[in-house]
Amino acid sequence: MPTVAVINGSLRQASLNGRLARALAKLAVPHLEFRPLSIADLPLYNQDNEAELPAAVARFKQEIAAADAVLFVTPEHNRSIPAALKNAIDWGSRPYGTSVWLDRPGAVIGTSAGTVGTAVAQAHLRAVLTSLGVALMGRPEAYVAFKDGLLDEADNVVDVTALKTLNAYVEALGRWVKRLA
Ligand code: FNR
Repeated sequence: MPTVAVINGSLRQASLNGRLARALAKLAVPHLEFRPLSIADLPLYNQDNEAELPAAVARFKQEIAAADAVLFVTPEHNRSIPAALKNAIDWGSRPYGTSVWLDRPGAVIGTSAGTVGTAVAQAHLRAVLTSLGVALMGRPEAYVAFKDGLLDEADNVVDVTALKTLNAYVEALGRWVKRLA
């Protein structure tokens, strides 16, 4: 089964995006295997440290390289992507010539409490990933409004409309990954 490295742009334990990522992983089971990655232990990017990559960076890059695709699940921080996510993307692109992003199949999704929450962050993220050569799934897009009744306590999608949307999203991702394999 193709593997998808999942990067949550939020570092917090109770992250709504972490919950969405877990819900998507369950929906993906017949098509894709989701592997959550940690970006919390990555140091702040510093070009001085490129000659000898910090262990967490080397591990992160290896996990991305081993996956068939990358799914970015991100909150919006002040109308853009969280700094921790940009930091992870920057590390993945370096040192020059060793980027893990080039031609890697990828997709973007995110949730916040607002109706179109994460739309601006996702647009920024798409611009960054496109510039790095990620083979980005253009559609469907998904701006998930996180509200009571979306997920149950075990992070299963229980809202019927959202379930349809998210199932379609995961199926499209499965087709995208297979097409680019
Ligand atoms: C936010 N939040 C937010 N939401 C949004 O829709 N647009 C925004 O620009 C921002 N800006 C913002 C900045 C900062 C610093 C924080 C901490 C939060 C709210 C945000 O969507 C909410 O906290 C989510 O719960 C964050 O996702 P996680 O951490 O739950 O995955």
